Amino acid sequence: MEGSDTLEWENTSEIEIPRDPLSRVIGQDHAVKLARRAAHQRRHLLLVGPPGIGKSMIAQAISFDLPHPDHEVQVVHNPANPERPFIETLTREEVAQREERLAAGTGKLVKPQEVPLHAAEKLGIFCSRCESYSDASEMICNNCGAPKARQPKSDNPFQDLVGFLEISIGQMAGKAGQVRTTRTKADGTEEVVVYELAGDMVMVLDEKALSERREQDMARPRKVLMPIERRTFIMATGASETELLGDVRHDPYGGHPNIGTPAYDRVVAGAIHEAHEGVLFIDEVPHLGGLQRYILTAMQDRNFPISGRNPQSSGASVRVEDVPCDFILVAACNVNDLPAILSPLRSRILGSGYEVVLDTTMEDNPSNRSSIAQFIAQEVHQDGRIPHADRTAIDGIIVESITRARRIDNAPKAITLRLRDLGGLVRCAGDIAVAEGSETIDGSHVEKAKTISVPAEEQIRVRYGSFKEGMASDLTEAQKLTHPHHYWNENVNPPGYE
Ligand SMILES: Nc1ncnc2c1ncn2[C@@H]1O[C@H](COP(=O)(O)OP(=O)(O)O)[C@@H](O)[C@H]1O
Ligand SMILES: [Mg+2]
Repeated sequence: MEGSDTLEWENTSEIEIPRDPLSRVIGQDHAVKLARRAAHQRRHLLLVGPPGIGKSMIAQAISFDLPHPDHEVQVVHNPANPERPFIETLTREEVAQREERLAAGTGKLVKPQEVPLHAAEKLGIFCSRCESYSDASEMICNNCGAPKARQPKSDNPFQDLVGFLEISIGQMAGKAGQVRTTRTKADGTEEVVVYELAGDMVMVLDEKALSERREQDMARPRKVLMPIERRTFIMATGASETELLGDVRHDPYGGHPNIGTPAYDRVVAGAIHEAHEGVLFIDEVPHLGGLQRYILTAMQDRNFPISGRNPQSSGASVRVEDVPCDFILVAACNVNDLPAILSPLRSRILGSGYEVVLDTTMEDNPSNRSSIAQFIAQEVHQDGRIPHADRTAIDGIIVESITRARRIDNAPKAITLRLRDLGGLVRCAGDIAVAEGSETIDGSHVEKAKTISVPAEEQIRVRYGSFKEGMASDLTEAQKLTHPHHYWNENVNPPGYE
């Protein structure tokens, strides 16, 4: 059986890419099954295998299978001992209630039309050119097309794309979306008023409301450490100690009540905390070295203190106990690195999860050939710069995937699952198609790509006859005289270096 005579598609554009992220992982049925279980039952996972076969993909896909986080975590000022801030955990409901209370307790909600024009214009809900109202998230008046007043100035060439995002984040932080002005009271005196965007409405805060809000803030100063809306996938590959475990920033004034930054405000969450209720992904675990044991402790206790990790810093005297970090650990490594993983960490994973060795090939059968076609469709979709592949191109890539299974993994009648590299072939063929002005990738593009998309070692082998030959031929004259390329390998103690 050559090619794809059993395929039902003529072009990869006909292939529907599954919505479920784990269904996009090709050929790792066992690992995917355990990944689903890990998400459901909150189990840990160790994925073992060579690069480019879907380890990161699986880890990320698990996070999509998890429910949204249920808890927001805050650090709260401790008046009795500022260097020992508390942790407070709020449920999603409590977060919503708090927001309602804040809104109700302080200002007054009014319609945009009730706001003075100059304030409405600054808020970005009113266009003074055509005198119409529109949503603040629109950068340009949708009536007359003029840019709105509060459009931030920026050098970003992608401002058309990111502008909205910048503003909406700014609003959440309470920076943009707020106008401070004054108005004359009935008795003739002036007072400060703040107009604040609040959805479709505008919140008006007079002096009384402002001081109420300030009091509320002052009573129990706090900072949100892990907001309720947060990502459920945190990558901690190669993280430093502070990135992994959190830190307390330095304050040159040592947290002095008047001029310094209070301790609670300097607390920074680590990756293990950010992954609370989500996935903590660590690729190449052994590279974490000694930090592995902290992960172990965090997994055991499901909480881990945050303290200043630099002894020179004023943060070192600050410590927050019991910061929650209930994550699913997804760790990945190469087969060779397995012995370098801390054994109690592995026993933790095995005790409450699974270790899976991923496959490097899959059987050559019609269903798996279809999966390769699906893979091509996914790569085309993901890349976004190359056209879809026609039947002859799918055929060519399937043939190559069989050749690679035989050549790299010595597997007869199999299809390679080293799909990152195969994706490289798809992209290379796609680039050739684009360069030739073709609207689809066809077999001829794949044939050409096969000669280009080869590892450097292979290219050297072809050009020089053998890899060694190639290495020798590229030495400079000086190197040849003093240091042949294998010199340092073959002479453990070269003269002068004993
Ligand atoms: N099993 C697979 N199914 C579908 N695509 C894959 C698979 N393995 C690798 N890929 C492709 O290769 C890319 C890199 O894979 P990745 O998950 O990062 O590999 P690993 O983590 O094992 O090194 C993915 O983004 C995807 O495009
Ligand atoms: Mg990876």
